[in-house]
This record gives sequence, structure tokens and C-alpha cells, in this order.
Amino acid sequence: MRVIVSECLRGTACRYDGRAKPSAAVQELCEKVDVVGVCPETAAGLPSPRPPAEQRAGRVWLRDGRDVTSDFERGAAISLAKARASAAPLAVLKAKSPSCGVGLIYDGTYTATLTEGEGVFARLLEEEEICVVTEDMVEKCKPSVEHPVAIVLGSGLGRLASLVKPVRRIDYHSIDDFPREARPVAGHRFEATVGTIDGVPVVVYPGRVHLYQGYGAPEVTSLVRHAHELGCRDIIFSCATGYISGNAHKGLGILTDQINFTGRNPLAEWDEINDVDSPFVDMTDAYTPYLRTLARGVADDLGIAVEEGIFAGMLGPSFETRAEAAMLRTLGVSYVGMSVANEVIMARALGMNVLGLTLATNESGESSVTHEAVLAEAASYADDFERLVRGILHLL
Ligand code: HPA
Repeated sequence: MRVIVSECLRGTACRYDGRAKPSAAVQELCEKVDVVGVCPETAAGLPSPRPPAEQRAGRVWLRDGRDVTSDFERGAAISLAKARASAAPLAVLKAKSPSCGVGLIYDGTYTATLTEGEGVFARLLEEEEICVVTEDMVEKCKPSVEHPVAIVLGSGLGRLASLVKPVRRIDYHSIDDFPREARPVAGHRFEATVGTIDGVPVVVYPGRVHLYQGYGAPEVTSLVRHAHELGCRDIIFSCATGYISGNAHKGLGILTDQINFTGRNPLAEWDEINDVDSPFVDMTDAYTPYLRTLARGVADDLGIAVEEGIFAGMLGPSFETRAEAAMLRTLGVSYVGMSVANEVIMARALGMNVLGLTLATNESGESSVTHEAVLAEAASYADDFERLVRGILHLL
């Protein structure tokens, strides 16, 4: 996988203050991917060190009052040409910089206050639909013993649990809000394993309870809160789904967004939600673009066929009618399932980074589907699913 990276994060002394600003997490990522190093300011011939620059009203100014907007634009255009030639899907750029900042940049008053906005180069990359993040995202997604990656396994995908080198097992029934009387449906086991996969700290939850079993949203999202309490900052949800003909095919998929048709929401259903500051949670980019892009890159590198698309979460347990499948097609949905939607809301409310992986086992709205067929079909993709997840863990 190719990744565009700000030179200063790799340790090159090219910033305004003449220093490097290396990030250990970014440097580690750079060892595992093909790096396309960029520094738009050096590309424009700006000296390093130079006086601090900040953006004000769309223009870039040096502290000494010089307007360097055209230099920054020229450097950004040169770096964009390099980025385009590389066809890299992801860029990791220096946070807050007037060239490279994403979401937050210095506001041009020389008070070192930050304002919402994009660096000149970052904006160009985003227009190209390249996923642009800063070192903060790479650092926040990096797993450690304190911050393992949570993995929730769906119907037929439980085999991945056997890869875990276990340190500790946790009976689901000891988890707050997990229903005491719940017993796993076929293909599920109700015991989380804390340990490592290929040396990466993980907590694997091999199965879940569903709304269609009569449980409420607080109960079906209890594993997410448990993962958060254990320190997990990244959570990978997997589930079997039906695919919507015309928008997707049978096989593995990366979820890009969701429509919650369950009629439930974990943030509406109980009054004491620990660790959630506000129930009014931003659900744009519910599925973390950085993780989606890594997953796509891994799939391409490994030659695993994976599609991407929008997920619709239904209450179930009946499968969709033909009319419902046709409606979902019109809405742009690719995958339809009976889990995940509420869990993703919970994870986002807790500030976790979310990756949604699915295995589309059958065409939604077609008569041949049975629960047993879904499990059998999911198992036949277990190898590819396993390779994909291991590849993603390796890059985190
Ligand atoms: N619809 C909903 N959920 C599913 C399906 C389906 O067709 N297949 C597997 N899970």
C-alpha cells in the first residue's frame, strides 16, 4: 500500500522552525508501506527555517507580514502532482500546519490559536478524494496493551477467535448490561478473549445478542461499552449480511456508512450512559475513513476481492421482502443485516474508531436464504476474512 507522508513526520528537518517533528507511530507505519514523502513548502523553494506562517481569510501570511499564498499554492500543486502519480489512497500530514493541517489550523493571528480549516495542500488532496489524516489519527489508532483492538465477530465468522494467543477470558455474563439469560445462537460463543493476534493486542468477542431476540439497545451494545472500558479505541465490527443486487455482490465488503432502520438507538433508550458526554453524537464518518482506507489497501495488496458500500441495519429476524430489497436499492444501500447499526452508534458516542467488515452471504429479497445457509456461506470465506483482518492489524 502507498501512503503520502509529510516529510517532517518522518524526521526530515524541513519545518518553518528548521526542525523535524517525527511521530513514532507514523514512522512505524512508514516501515510497513510504500512511502511517498512530501513537503509542499520545500517543494515551493521556501527556506527552512522561515518565520511562522498562518492562514487568515484563505491567504497564508508569514509573521513578518509577507503574503506567501502563491508560494504555498505552488508547493501544494507540485506535491499534488507527486501524489497523483503515486495513486496513493491515503495521506498522513502534519497536524495544524497551514499546508498540511486537517480540520484544525493556526488561525493567522499569531496567537497560536487554532481554527477550523484545512491546509492548502490538505484541501487539494481531499478534493482528489484521497483520505487525509494527521499524525493524531495514526497515533490514536495504534494498538497497545493499554489500548487493544476490539473485534466483534458475526455469524459464521467466529473462526478468527482461534487465532488469539489468550491472556485472559471473560464470560459475557460478567459484562454489565449483557443479558444474564442469553445463550449463543448457532455459530456463536459467549466468551471474550483478551490476548494478541500476531503480537497485536486484541479483545475478541466471538458473537453478540440481537434486537430480534427481544433485547434492547442497551443490551446489544453492552460489549461495545465493555471494550471501551478495557481501553479499546479501535473496534472492528463484522457481520453476515444480505447484498442488494445492483449495488453489491456476494463476498467480503467494507462498510462505508449506515442507515439505522431498527427503530432503536442506544443513546435514546436509557438515562445513565457512562462516559458519553452528550447523546447528540456526530454520525458523519461513522465508519472511520482512515481504517476504511487501510482495509481497502490491505485487500488490494493481498488480492482479496472486497467491495465497499452502505449498510442498512434492520430489526429482523425475518429477511427482507422483495419490496424492501427494492427500496434499499433505491436508497443506495449495498448491505443489509440485523446487527452493527446500534453498536456503531454506541462506539461513536464513546469516541471509538470504527471499522465495519461484512460478508455478504446471499441476495437480499430472494427466497433461497436460510440462517443455516448464511452460516455455511460465511464459513467458506473464513480464510479471506482472516487474512484481511490480520493484514489490517499489521498496519495499525
Ligand atoms: N438480510 C438481513 N440480514 C442478513 C441477510 C439478509 O439477507 N443475510 C445475512 N444476514
